[in-house]
Order: sequence, then C-alpha cells, then structure tokens
Amino acid sequence: MTTIVTGGAGFIGSNFIFYMLKKHPEERIICVDKLTYAGNLSTLASVMDNPNFRFVKADICDESAIDQLFVEEHPDVVVNFAAESHVDRSIKDPNIFLQTNIMGTANLMNVARKYGVQRFHQVSTDEVYGDLPLDRPDLFFTEETPIHTSSPYSSSKAAADLLVLAYHRTYGLPVTISRCSNNYGSYQFPEKLIPLMFIDATENRPLPVYGEGLNVRDWLYVEDHCQAIDLILQNGRVGEVYNIGGHNEMRNIDIVKIICQTLGKPESLIEHVTDRKGHDRRYAIDPTKIHNELGWLPETNFKDGIAETLKWYQDNQDWWQQIINGDYQKYYEKMYANR
Ligand code: NAD
Ligand code: TYD
Repeated sequence: MTTIVTGGAGFIGSNFIFYMLKKHPEERIICVDKLTYAGNLSTLASVMDNPNFRFVKADICDESAIDQLFVEEHPDVVVNFAAESHVDRSIKDPNIFLQTNIMGTANLMNVARKYGVQRFHQVSTDEVYGDLPLDRPDLFFTEETPIHTSSPYSSSKAAADLLVLAYHRTYGLPVTISRCSNNYGSYQFPEKLIPLMFIDATENRPLPVYGEGLNVRDWLYVEDHCQAIDLILQNGRVGEVYNIGGHNEMRNIDIVKIICQTLGKPESLIEHVTDRKGHDRRYAIDPTKIHNELGWLPETNFKDGIAETLKWYQDNQDWWQQIINGDYQKYYEKMYANR
C-alpha cells in the first residue's frame, strides 16, 4: 500500500505521517509538500531515513510534477492536507488560498482520476459550516449543517469540498471528506493561537487576544485527529463526510489564561486588540456519525492535551526559534503592530 500525503511538512500532515509510519510500518508514505512558509523540512527529520518514506518537494497545483509522481509511485491512496490554512492571512490576501485550496485539490483529483486510486481523502474543516451563536450551547455542527462560510479561507475549503463531492458523483472518484475542529499539539506553526501565545508569554511580550476573547473553539488533539483519518481510510464509506471533534469547547481567553498559569506568567500580559474581521463566534462538532459508524471518540481531554503541548514547545525551543528568527517577524509586525 502506497499513500501520498500532501502538506506533510506542516502541522497536522507531519503528525499524520508519524502516526501512520508507526501504526502501519509495512505501508509506504510519500510526502508531497511545496515547503511554503508553513512547511518545515526539519519537522520530518526523524523519518527521512525510513525506507518506507519519501519526501518530494512539489506544488499540488503543478500538474506535470504530480503526474510524474503517480507514474513513479502508483499510489493507492491520496490524503490531501496541503492548504493555505490561516484565516488572518486569507483576510489580508485571499488569492493564494483560492489557488492552492481549490485549484490544487482539483489538480490532485484530475491526476488521481487519470491513474485510478482506491481512495482520495480530503482533509477539510468545521469552518465550512460557518459559526454558531454563543448563547445556544445546545447547537452543534452535524454533517447535515448547511455550508455557510465566513472567511476567504473557509470559503476556499468549502469550494474544494464541493468539488470533491462532485468528482465522486460525476466521475465515481472514491472520495471521503473529514471536517475537523481546531487542532492543537506538537509542530503547529506559531501563527496559530496556542503556539503564538506560548511564545509571546515565554518572551514576556503582550498576548494579543482578539476582542473580548469570548469566541469558542472545539479543540482536538492532533493525534486523535490522525487516528480518526486512519479509521476513515480503513472503514469509512466512500462519498461520505465525517465530522471529527468532540466536546472540548474552550473560550480563547481561558486558553490564554491557562498558558499564563502553566508558564508562571502574569495575566497582565493579556492585551485585548482589534477583533478579526468577520470573526466566527463558536465552533462545536457533533461526532455522532464517526462514533456510531467507526467507533471513534477523542481520547485526549483538553487538560492533558494542553499540558503535553506546552511541554513540547518548552522542550523544542530550537524548532520554533528557527521559525521566529525568519520571515515570521515581518508577519508579526504586519499583523499585530498598531492593532
Ligand atoms: P499548515 O499550514 O501547518 O500546513 C500546510 C502544509 O501544506 C505546509 O507544509 C505547506 O508547505 C503545505 N502547502 C501549502 N501549499 C501547498 C501547495 N500548493 N502544494 C504543496 N504543499 C503545500 O496546516 P495544518 O494546520 O497542518 O492543516 C492541514 C490541513 O488541515 C489543511 O487542509 C487545513 O485546512 C486543515 N485543517 C486544519 C485545522 C487546524 O486546526 N490546524 C483545522 C481544520 C482543518
Ligand atoms: P486560530 O488559531 O487562528 O484558528 P481559527 O481562526 O482557525 O479558529 O485562532 C483561534 C482563535 O483564537 C480564534 O477565535 C482567533 C483567536 N486568536 C486571538 O485571539 N489572537 C491571536 O493572535 C490569534 C492568532 C487568534
């Protein structure tokens, strides 16, 4: 069995590669990644010498590169993690999101159709459902919730999902889609909430909470996510969407306070800054379908997962220092100066 994992030098893709090489050591994994600002080859250092692993630097939008890879490797499965993934960047500059997230997905599917695959799995997001009101804790996203996006990022992911379902219906491509909630864990790029606040707190910088910090996210430990995708690849029904997440809802402000407490930093570092445009209020997943069909439930509660995650960032300063010493500083200045 040979699986192409796109975006495997990023946060979730790399964790998925580690998970798969450990869980299914007999299977071959080919990582395809363009190495954008969010991709980091050093993340994959521990698996580079594994004979069942190959890294290929390529853009998922590059038809000839992807075609050539299929000729060389005859993949059975494609798992598409590659994407532009940060909402704030999509608000500043949507175009690359449309290119990679929509056209890149279409290009991968075109090549997958040409050569045939057993499965094309699209890694999507709960953000395609829009948001839920803060005063209705009884409401959750199910797979039947209408697509109703807020940001250029979520719109590009929703467009890709619709294309994936269309390629199934029109051409019979054997697809599955998973829509997960906010992931956290090791190797997450420092632009996202938890690593950003960890690094700023470590360096005694102000902690920029958007608005009041009352927005709610449903946090999913990255290894639980990887396990769910593996189950969908094995036993998921072709043509189906599976929501992944489950009842780990937290307000942003409470997460930032946990980070302060864990690091022994004063909450006076918290600074409320101008809110994100179109800021989604609450995400919350109903995981009934994946639980009933595939027996999956998240195994990691937020208290344990966040402790593990913060410890990982404490123990792996070299990894994030190398990032924040590069272009990240310019990004931070652009996004947060005078906010
Ligand atoms: P990430 O930004 O950390 O990593 C994305 C990876 O894709 C990087 O390695 C980057 O180099 C690569 N990439 C980008 N454009 C590419 C292109 N054109 N060709 C090849 N590679 C390219 O993202 P992540 O957080 O690991 O997210 C992975 C997937 O999961 C994305 O599809 C995202 O939409 C989805 N998702 C993420 C979360 C989350 O909380 N992080 C939640 C829901 C869904
Ligand atoms: P983020 O990690 O960007 O994920 P997403 O936008 O996909 O949910 O943000 C998580 C939440 O944290 C979101 O409500 C925005 C908020 N946030 C801040 O308050 N300050 C920040 O500096 C960042 C990056 C996010």
